[in-house]
Amino acid sequence: MQEIPLVVSEKRLTVAAHEWLAEALFDGAFAVDATVGNGYDTLFLAHRVGPNGSVLGFDIQKPALAGAHELLRFTGKAGRVKLVHECHSRIGGYLDRDIDGAMFNLGYLPRGSHALITRPETTVSALQSILTRLKRGGRITVLAYRGHQGGPEEYFRLREFLFSLSMAEYTVDELVGKTDMPESPRLFRIQKKSNPEI
Ligand SMILES: C[S@@+](CC[C@H](N)C(=O)[O-])C[C@H]1O[C@@H](n2cnc3c(N)ncnc32)[C@H](O)[C@@H]1O
Repeated sequence: MQEIPLVVSEKRLTVAAHEWLAEALFDGAFAVDATVGNGYDTLFLAHRVGPNGSVLGFDIQKPALAGAHELLRFTGKAGRVKLVHECHSRIGGYLDRDIDGAMFNLGYLPRGSHALITRPETTVSALQSILTRLKRGGRITVLAYRGHQGGPEEYFRLREFLFSLSMAEYTVDELVGKTDMPESPRLFRIQKKSNPEI
């Protein structure tokens, strides 16, 4: 059973996610973007894994992936990124190496359909698959939005799953912005301990 301390972040949660994850990435690393969307997080990961690293990205919306690919091509990073038009819960079939870092940015595509949202079952399933291939010291961020229909349920289901993680193996905390409201987003940070406490 995990303890999940609540930490107030001075920074925007998107910035806090990038800065924290960046510490687990290096030239040659392998990262996963579980929710590619417009590709901004994918581009960040592609930058951090360097010319010798690689990124695997998933989204269920083809037009979003096309836009993300264009962004990556324009910035010269497309060669180190594989984009997959598939639900992230199927990630297990695409993993051929262990993972240094992974990001989830939940909810719906900004300016896209609010009907195409991440769902608790598939989010938790993808997270489970990633955890099994996460390296020691590896990190995962999950930004959960609570302001749309289905958002609060996904947040609670995710939190419930994270509580079930072993404290000997993982550390988990939850970042909250300075102006936290019931509908404000929350950022979970999960790290696989370098030295498990057995
Ligand atoms: C908040 S947006 C991601 C924003 C993105 N990280 C960026 O930098 O622009 C959430 C994305 O998750 C995608 N999504 C929803 N369900 C998914 C699933 N089961 N597997 C993969 N992607 C999913 C949506 O299509 C949407 O593009």
